[in-house]
Amino acid sequence: MSRVRIGGDDRVFVLTGAGISAESGLPTFRADDGLWAGNRIEDVCTPEAWERNPGLVWQFYSGRRMDGQKAEPNAAHFALAELEAQIGDRFFLCTQNVDDLHERAGSVRLVHMHGELGKAHCENDCGRPPIEDHAIYGSLAEVGRCACGGRYRPHIVFFGEMPLEMDRIRDEIDRATLMLVVGTSGSVYPAANFVHWAKMNGARRVYVGPEEPLNAAAFTSVVEGKAGEVLPGLFAVE
Ligand code: OAD
Repeated sequence: MSRVRIGGDDRVFVLTGAGISAESGLPTFRADDGLWAGNRIEDVCTPEAWERNPGLVWQFYSGRRMDGQKAEPNAAHFALAELEAQIGDRFFLCTQNVDDLHERAGSVRLVHMHGELGKAHCENDCGRPPIEDHAIYGSLAEVGRCACGGRYRPHIVFFGEMPLEMDRIRDEIDRATLMLVVGTSGSVYPAANFVHWAKMNGARRVYVGPEEPLNAAAFTSVVEGKAGEVLPGLFAVE
């Protein structure tokens, strides 16, 4: 495996997906035994699902909170935190994951474009910021309400909603000279397009994962392997 050289002028944009947390024991979405195999997106991850049956939505995300709280960061999360410690503000991490394993490994310059499991926000989008919420709810009656009267919902970007922090993400991609994408199938937009934006800017584009993503053709190289095995030895920082 050839190493990825990071020179003094390089700026690195990292996109991660569910695959980076797989070795921490958290299931991915589209594997045969993944989250979307046992749960229909339309039942738990759309605005309509929330309208129809908020109790079922909270039941699903309470289960994910329980799993997330038990999981520990793996060697791939730590390798990215170490790279950030080496190159400082020339590093930026955008994760599609809603777990907090990157933070717990030490990453600082990161955004969660699909939301965070450990937060909730008002269903009315009344303008108040999300609140910290790590509760495992046994029933909908336990879920609190915002000052405006709206019920709190998981701080998760449902299908059909706009991902978070897109302006900042676009700016960071435009400044990057190297894009590293780890453990994502390339099937959900706009994240699957980031590699195309980086390509238009002339940045190097490296994918790491055990199989080719759907958008593999847009990368300059694909390193096949598990994130926890590949990332710790991947970077040659000059
Ligand atoms: P997917 O389940 O679609 O893809 C997971 C990817 O991780 C696959 O390409 C696997 O090959 C790869 N993978 C598995 N084990 C790995 C390992 N040990 N190391 C590296 N890669 C590994 O998950 P995502 O692409 O993250 O959105 O899904 C994108 C979005 O779709 C999610 O954020 C979620 C989902 O619906 C929302 O919930 C809004």
